[in-house]
Amino acid sequence: MADVSRVQSALLGWYAREARDLPWRKTRDPYAILVAEVMLQQTQVDRVIPKYHAWLARFPTLGDLAGASRADAIRAWQGLGYNRRAVRLHEIASQAVAAFGGKLPRSVDGLLRLKGIGRYTAGAVACFAYEQPEPMVDTNVRRVLSRVFGIEPAGVESMAASVIPRADAWAWGQALMDLGAGVCRVSQPLCLICPLLHECGGPRPSGGRRAPAGEFRSSNRYFRGRILDELRGLPTGRHLELDALAERVEGRVDLIHALAAEGLLEIDSNRRVKLPE
Ligand code: ADE
Repeated sequence: MADVSRVQSALLGWYAREARDLPWRKTRDPYAILVAEVMLQQTQVDRVIPKYHAWLARFPTLGDLAGASRADAIRAWQGLGYNRRAVRLHEIASQAVAAFGGKLPRSVDGLLRLKGIGRYTAGAVACFAYEQPEPMVDTNVRRVLSRVFGIEPAGVESMAASVIPRADAWAWGQALMDLGAGVCRVSQPLCLICPLLHECGGPRPSGGRRAPAGEFRSSNRYFRGRILDELRGLPTGRHLELDALAERVEGRVDLIHALAAEGLLEIDSNRRVKLPE
């Protein structure tokens, strides 16, 4: 099993450098975070951002939402899809006003007493608003933790709490979201630019593609293809360290240089490798 404290420091270090700048990360208002998390459950980040701002402008507090009609909530949800979520949010607001004086409870157990808040949402609000060491396991987080720690996806829920760095729970949770969305992807994970490459027990060769059997696997043509596959999998503008790339292809630095000489890739003066522009 991967070393937990090394995973923690590698992931937190990466997040400090690479964090996405997202509006719900600039607030600790539990209601705003609840809105974001419910929106993000079935809608992509890019589509959520404008809707998140518009929703909070229309209903700035739980009290404002509870005071509006269900129809108003459904109207304001337009464009997000899965409209039952609007009703859910509206019901949560009504309960919070009736039972908790218009506030959201701090604890996961308290949050779970609200109908419409499940384990994921309770964990997300407890962690992202109140900075508590609570896990929020969605499909991305389940995949990341299962790969890194080499456990079955079904086992992640019960271990997720045990790997949270207690002093940095907020950043840990956000970092898992970013890693799952941008690096540790379902198919073609970008293992070579992953901060956990050296800690992780998960998939390796580009996109989990299995190497073909037999002699071809040791041929130059095979390794040349593998090198270019690694580079093709990168987002535009990204590069790989020459040494990390070589490590992925059984040390075939000779082939990396040969491909550069042929104009199929570029190596800059900092030994960074990328496809030619
Ligand atoms: N998806 C769900 N929660 C998220 C968050 N807090 N940041 C980015 N993506 C998310």
